[in-house]
Amino acid sequence: GKPLPLTIAIDGPAASGKGTLARRLADYYHLPHLDTGLTYRAVGHALIIHGLPLDNVSAAETAARQVDLGNLDREALSAHEVGEAASRVAVFPTVRKMLVDKQRAFAAQPGGAVLDGRDIGTVVCPDADVKLYVTASPEVRAGRRLRDIESRGGHADLSEILADIVRRDERDMGREDSPLRPAADAHLLDTTEMSIEAAFQAARTVIDAVLAKR
Ligand code: DC
Repeated sequence: GKPLPLTIAIDGPAASGKGTLARRLADYYHLPHLDTGLTYRAVGHALIIHGLPLDNVSAAETAARQVDLGNLDREALSAHEVGEAASRVAVFPTVRKMLVDKQRAFAAQPGGAVLDGRDIGTVVCPDADVKLYVTASPEVRAGRRLRDIESRGGHADLSEILADIVRRDERDMGREDSPLRPAADAHLLDTTEMSIEAAFQAARTVIDAVLAKR
């Protein structure tokens, strides 16, 4: 039978493909999956719909306390400005602490789980069985995001997407609390010249090697 439990931590910058990879791995290894970006997006979204400024810490704390992992609406939270708002509220340590507690409760399921975000391997699940750090050049990430938008009938400007990605990287990597960075024991997966399928196979190779050793 399947060796249990298995916790997989996946981190990386915006549009790196970590979400797609996380979903495929969760499916393949039959594990529950949490996109932790959605929890920060839920807080940003709550402030936006109430017309509150994104630097209102106490409103962000109230919203963070109300985040329900079982009720995250991917559709409503997918908008570009919600991602930007998420990155802004994610700098507040009190907000992070509330969301990290919920994320850790999810990770503690008996069979394990797949979590993806920015600080999973470093802060949320420092004892994860497998840690992956997924990157790609900003240009390639911007190109993927553009194709994504166009495939859904939308329009966008490549240079604007690139500027957004660079600014988001700077904020997420530069903040004081839990900045985006690879854990010391993370496996780096640079997907700049890799298809989704190739990234999935590379991740499987890493995970299967870990499973074979125990
Ligand atoms: O992965 P995403 O684009 O949905 O994340 C949105 C923002 O949320 C991201 O720019 C920073 C923040 N975030 C974080 O600080 N820590 C996480 N584990 C996940 C997301």
